[in-house]
Amino acid sequence: MNSIAIIEKKKNKEHLTYEELAYIFNGYLKKEVPDYQMSALLMAITLNGLDEDEIMDLTDIFIKSGDVLDLTKIKGIFVDKHSTGGVGDKTTLVIGPIVAACGLKMPKMSGRGLGLTGGTIDKLESIPGFDVDLSEEEFLKGLEKVGFVNVSQNEKLVPLDKLIYALRDVTATTESLGLIAVSIMSKKIAGGSNNILIDVKYGNGALIKSKEQALEFSELVKKIGHKYHKKVKTKIDDMNVPLGNNIGNALEIVEVMDILKGKEGYLTNLCLDLSATLISMGKDISYDEAKNEAMEALKSGKAYQKFLEFVNNQKGDITKLKVSPYTIEVKAKTEGILKDISAHEIAKLASVLGCFRLTKESKIDYSVGIVLNKNLGDPVKVDDVLCTLYVKNNMKIDTDSIKCFKIEGGK
Ligand code: URA
Repeated sequence: MNSIAIIEKKKNKEHLTYEELAYIFNGYLKKEVPDYQMSALLMAITLNGLDEDEIMDLTDIFIKSGDVLDLTKIKGIFVDKHSTGGVGDKTTLVIGPIVAACGLKMPKMSGRGLGLTGGTIDKLESIPGFDVDLSEEEFLKGLEKVGFVNVSQNEKLVPLDKLIYALRDVTATTESLGLIAVSIMSKKIAGGSNNILIDVKYGNGALIKSKEQALEFSELVKKIGHKYHKKVKTKIDDMNVPLGNNIGNALEIVEVMDILKGKEGYLTNLCLDLSATLISMGKDISYDEAKNEAMEALKSGKAYQKFLEFVNNQKGDITKLKVSPYTIEVKAKTEGILKDISAHEIAKLASVLGCFRLTKESKIDYSVGIVLNKNLGDPVKVDDVLCTLYVKNNMKIDTDSIKCFKIEGGK
């Protein structure tokens, strides 16, 4: 067996066996297969797909590349959620504190930014001191004490996903349904929870582009969950408009705190809905009862307190969160109603500002990003500020070339 023959097979749309997948992926983990051969394979997979058996096999290989968390060491009801990725998607950091405040435990493993979609780990690392790489002992201790712990894939937990994820991010191979399913479900199985909710996002700001693909993906993750005896629910959501108002790592943490302190709107409702689904799965109660618990946790301030406890437990210092002091306003040139805010164009703009990586070695700037000052459906007058860019010092942006907003119906 050799890597070139395996890449060649996928290039020719042939099925890869468990042994072939294990040979090349485990070889990559052991640094015996170089980046350029793995990149070629990932591109062949992105173009030609993985069949269901290959997806099941590769998920198994990813899980076995590390340990599976043994949650029997602590007591509790364990739930987990994962989003397939979108622009401004900070739901995990609102939902984790809500469900923990309701007495559930959420052991969560997340990733960094992927393509033009932001990653929870990057958002958390914008908080100075925040540790995303806990030992198993620290992880379980935090889970027992706080009820919500959020770490990155690491040398012990799905190390293959850590490596492949970072390579996909910079090789335009983020959009394969099979690779997304393997990446997400290997982390969810290794995380040990029995109740898993997958938030499937589709649209121009998501990795999954169409509703048909989202439905296909939803069936796929349920089948993987079933194989590992997990209860898996999915929720399919549109991602053509950014989620919430803030895009960019530190700015998204600011918005998480705003929501936990009472900010209302679409994103708050979505987080309450996802939290209620998890609470009802975990406690085996009706959705309505669960929703009341989630709303109470938010209204009483308990969820916000949980967030602070969570940050503190992972050594973050929220008082040192830094948003760039340099801003540029993007103003409307016409009047009318704001009909569209393209998630894809906003993500491209966020990339120009420095929110995402362009190579594996790139350093991202946590302090930059975009705040949307108008929401969909808002009336707009000439010179109204549509969004504020938080930029690096001295950065010049040609605001006339920004094509994120569609305003219609004016004179
Ligand atoms: N989230 C993940 O963890 N992996 C993907 O491939 C996409 C979203």
